[in-house]
Amino acid sequence: MYIAIYYKLDFFVMKHLPLNPDIFVQNRERFAARMEKGSMAIFNSNDLMPANGDAVFPFKQNSDLYWLTGIQQEETMLILMPSHPEMKYREVLVLLRPNEMKEKWDGFLLRAQEASAISGIKTIIWLDGLEAQLQPWVHLHDVIYLNSNENNRKSSTVLTRDYRFAKQMRKKYPLHQYRRSAAIMRELRAVKTALEVEVMQRAMKITENTFRHLLGFIKPGVMEYEIEAEIWRSFIGNRSAGPAYSSIIASGDNARILHYVDNNKECKDGDLILMDFGAEYGGYCADLTRTIPVNGKFTRRQKTVYNACLDLHRYCATILKPGISILDYTNKVGNRATEIFNKIGLLKKSDIKNEDPDNRAYRKYLYHGISHHLGIDVHDLGTVTEPIKAGMVFTIEPGIYIEEEGMGIRIENNYWITRSGNKDLMKDIPITVEDIEALMKQGR
Ligand code: GLY
Ligand code: MN
Ligand code: MN
Repeated sequence: MYIAIYYKLDFFVMKHLPLNPDIFVQNRERFAARMEKGSMAIFNSNDLMPANGDAVFPFKQNSDLYWLTGIQQEETMLILMPSHPEMKYREVLVLLRPNEMKEKWDGFLLRAQEASAISGIKTIIWLDGLEAQLQPWVHLHDVIYLNSNENNRKSSTVLTRDYRFAKQMRKKYPLHQYRRSAAIMRELRAVKTALEVEVMQRAMKITENTFRHLLGFIKPGVMEYEIEAEIWRSFIGNRSAGPAYSSIIASGDNARILHYVDNNKECKDGDLILMDFGAEYGGYCADLTRTIPVNGKFTRRQKTVYNACLDLHRYCATILKPGISILDYTNKVGNRATEIFNKIGLLKKSDIKNEDPDNRAYRKYLYHGISHHLGIDVHDLGTVTEPIKAGMVFTIEPGIYIEEEGMGIRIENNYWITRSGNKDLMKDIPITVEDIEALMKQGR
């Protein structure tokens, strides 16, 4: 029996309860099994980013390094040398040396024993001594894996520690062969272990409890930011690190803006409110969207459109299983959306007949992707061209956005792909019109 949330350690580094280090031991084993013979791999943490004056932005660990180690501290490195002749050097964690003065200002830094307990790595060395040790290790290997952030949707002009390190390495060791860890990471991180899913389920439970609380909190006249504040309070009060992404609290017509995060309007009687929010727990994310009536009762039209969206959501869940690619899935969902949108009077037969195959008619009312990988990152690593595999975790999040009616609805749950289908990890979170109305009436 796997237990991901681990109560045995008697120290707390983050707000969450200590995690089972096997999560990260297993992830390293998976990565090492994919490395070429006689190679080494080096991973860097993210930078602590300067803001203004002497302030820094809240630290966000590099997701690949976290996936491999569970360490949330800046200036951390991981070195993997699976064929090193000395066992103790097969996995080396590099940390900032604890410094009393720095700790007086900025707080606690990990001791070697603590970092070992979190990561399961036995050999810890200090960053200030790395240079001398790294050289003989590099000389021992022909091939070096270095890390990079390869995202198809975003490029950055800021050089990360990984990129700066890659530049230094190529300059200092020009005759080595270099490989991209990213090509392996995107395949591995997409498929979750049972232990990882257990941590994600904790993030989802905190999100569920928060949503149930909101069902009793939301009334005409409440401000969107007051709802956002309740989410923060409930998340942090339950050991979450906070929202996994900026909460979208969009009442009325604001719901048609996909990344609406102003959250500054009053919620009006008769309007719907779309809430897209999820907790981060132990470095893993939940991603929920619910759309509910501000006054606790859907109008007839709101109910029709809501049930159409729920129908589409449920259809998605019947086809999101091993073997289908995200591209095929999107086409099939598009076909079903077309039928449904015709039924509720949004699309005419002629709109459908004359549609542009590259910009189908249904996209007027549903103009975003239906599913994405979920894990350490909200939009987690994974390919969209390969067939879906057991172990992946996806969102299903169809929406219907109607400008003419000033209305936007989205319904989002998180699913774990099994060998024959999938498991709805959010199945206990109220989703039907009847359940939502009943719970709002009871005040919870
Ligand atoms: N909350 C971001 C998303 O649903 O993709
Ligand atoms: Mn979402
Ligand atoms: Mn999502």
